[in-house]
Amino acid sequence: MQIIFYDKETTRLKSEKKGTTILETALKHEYPLYHLCGGNAKCTTCRVYVSDGISNLSNRNEREQLLADRKGWPSEIRLACQTEVFGDIGVRRIIRDNKDLKTVTSESKSSKTGEECFAVILFLDIKGFTSFTESNLAYDVVFVLNRFFHEMSEPILNNGGEIDKFIGDGILAFFQISNAKGSKQSQEEEIQNLKTETMKSAIRACLRMFDQLQKFNIEMKDRFNFTFDIRLGLHAGNVIYGDIGHSEFKSQTVLGDVVNVASRLEALNKKTNTRFLVSDVIYDTIGKLLSIDKKVITKLRGKSDVMKAYSVIGFKEKDSILLTQQYFDQLNTKYPNWIHNYENNLETFRNKNVNLENSSASNEGDLIPLLQILESIVDKLGNPKSLKKEISKLANHYNMLSIPRENFSKLVPVLLNTLEDTSSELWNHTISLVLKEVWTDITIQLLES
Ligand code: FES
Repeated sequence: MQIIFYDKETTRLKSEKKGTTILETALKHEYPLYHLCGGNAKCTTCRVYVSDGISNLSNRNEREQLLADRKGWPSEIRLACQTEVFGDIGVRRIIRDNKDLKTVTSESKSSKTGEECFAVILFLDIKGFTSFTESNLAYDVVFVLNRFFHEMSEPILNNGGEIDKFIGDGILAFFQISNAKGSKQSQEEEIQNLKTETMKSAIRACLRMFDQLQKFNIEMKDRFNFTFDIRLGLHAGNVIYGDIGHSEFKSQTVLGDVVNVASRLEALNKKTNTRFLVSDVIYDTIGKLLSIDKKVITKLRGKSDVMKAYSVIGFKEKDSILLTQQYFDQLNTKYPNWIHNYENNLETFRNKNVNLENSSASNEGDLIPLLQILESIVDKLGNPKSLKKEISKLANHYNMLSIPRENFSKLVPVLLNTLEDTSSELWNHTISLVLKEVWTDITIQLLES
């Protein structure tokens, strides 16, 4: 029985005993085969590609199967330390030198070694940025671009998106759907719901970018006598996602045709005189929720098929999160003193309802300004993970003000009454219903924090 290693030279290793692993035979003959974890199915450095005699090998054991499933290996990729040999085979080492080893060890530090997933891809570009660079100092250009990227990235991150990279004066971002759990049928339903929710989040992020841009432009007009506009393209589908680059300079990147289409949609805005184009894939899934002002039928550069694209101007029905964020934008601009009214009303509430002598308020830690916490909560409404952190800061703040948990739900009317009294011009039936719904949800999370 022999194991043939095909490399620059072919090496034939004899094995007497059936059931010996590939690694054991290699070690016995002092044939160089990396095995960083000592043969425990943990490092993948011993993996080989089986070119001949695959039927002469043991089936994958549980540990190997687990790794193979996680990495998506085909049946020909085997762990030499776990694979027993029962006849002649031919293999190739996958990790052959230190450079390969560096690549694989930097892969193992990351959880993204290459996977296919469904994602919504967002491309953003600044319109006419070149004229700004031509008429301003390099220092100002870099400063403004960094500020711009910060303002535009916040809505992406606050709605569950991730920044892939900043490209010149543009941004490539994506919103990935997480894995569905449960039975096959419930999984399919869940995946469909996740796709819809992810697309809605991406649209909300884009609409929020236009709000941010408006605020950003007020400052830019004042400081540089210049205003910016943006163009956005959104498409969705399966992409490849992983750490790409040099072993020491890798970044997580999305690749695939979906990314190219999103980029071309963004560029198409120039021709169609639009600002925000989404693909037919997005429109077919959530089109009925969107306000569209233009439909474009086009052939994208480098594509032979005709494609439909839609110019989005907003959500058709109210989106509670977006509406709340836009309300608070206006509130902070027009009525910056509202927070003092709320702080006063909180104090009055506490004095009426809490026996301060028995209070077990914690005085540990710094008191983060209430306005800062509330603004953060409003900004992060579209990202449950980061919202949770902000909500626990609010619970802590109330605690430091000696307002016990059992009174948290009574604070909803305190806030709403303050807002209604302070911002009478912005107040209406819709905003009062939306804020009540949103703040009740926050309070439930507050009670659970
Ligand atoms: S030696 Fe580490 S997985 Fe085989």
